[in-house]
Amino acid sequence: MNYITSFGFSIRWRKQSVSWFPSAEEKVKILDLMCGMGETWSFLRRKFPNAEIDALDFSPEMLKFAEARNKKKFGNKIRIIEVDFLKNTLKSEHYDYVVCAYGLKTFDEEQIQFLAKETERVLKTGGKFSFLEVSKPESTLLLHTFGFYLENIIPVLGKIFLGNPEQYQMLWKYTERFGNVEKVLPIFADHFSLVATMNHFGGCATTILGFKNNN
Ligand SMILES: C[S@@+](CC[C@H](N)C(=O)[O-])C[C@H]1O[C@@H](n2cnc3c(N)ncnc32)[C@H](O)[C@@H]1O
Repeated sequence: MNYITSFGFSIRWRKQSVSWFPSAEEKVKILDLMCGMGETWSFLRRKFPNAEIDALDFSPEMLKFAEARNKKKFGNKIRIIEVDFLKNTLKSEHYDYVVCAYGLKTFDEEQIQFLAKETERVLKTGGKFSFLEVSKPESTLLLHTFGFYLENIIPVLGKIFLGNPEQYQMLWKYTERFGNVEKVLPIFADHFSLVATMNHFGGCATTILGFKNNN
């Protein structure tokens, strides 16, 4: 559904959001937050063939699909963690990379602050993070076209393909509230001295990325 309704862009943006990580053969440790059905894993596996990947989500429905994907494509090597991230007990200083695709928009400011603090806590020194989210484009034309599409067309397609428009009715509302990752940049800058953002397709999605150093 996401692939078709985004004309393949949702996948391309996932790939772009981790493209700045240098490929490595080492057994790096990666945390995929709000992993959903494991849509980011194939990009991670290609870059890091020997990585230990932990994937976290609190939805048993999404994780049912993630488990099937894990079994079929990843030899059950991904460790799936079913927990609310806001109540996680992940190990400190444990991960080389933390990623998250499309999992930020439902978080309010306090939860984003928690996310930034926890990302710093679980990352090793030298570790990197990359968080991608659907966003409000800057240009008025794109904003109106994209907004109309997400608000009016996507719920209809949701009904046609999945028989369920409700799931998609909130997409534009959350996206409008979220804005783009520039809004959360100051929160992450409180925890990381090196943070930057990446625009995808005129800002229809944005990525915040950063690096944990000694400070
Ligand atoms: C839009 S989906 C994104 C899934 C996937 N990362 C992708 O690239 O498509 C957002 C996911 O975040 C999960 N989620 C939202 N809030 C969460 C929380 N507090 N703890 C864990 N998972 C959460 C939802 O269950 C859902 O699977």
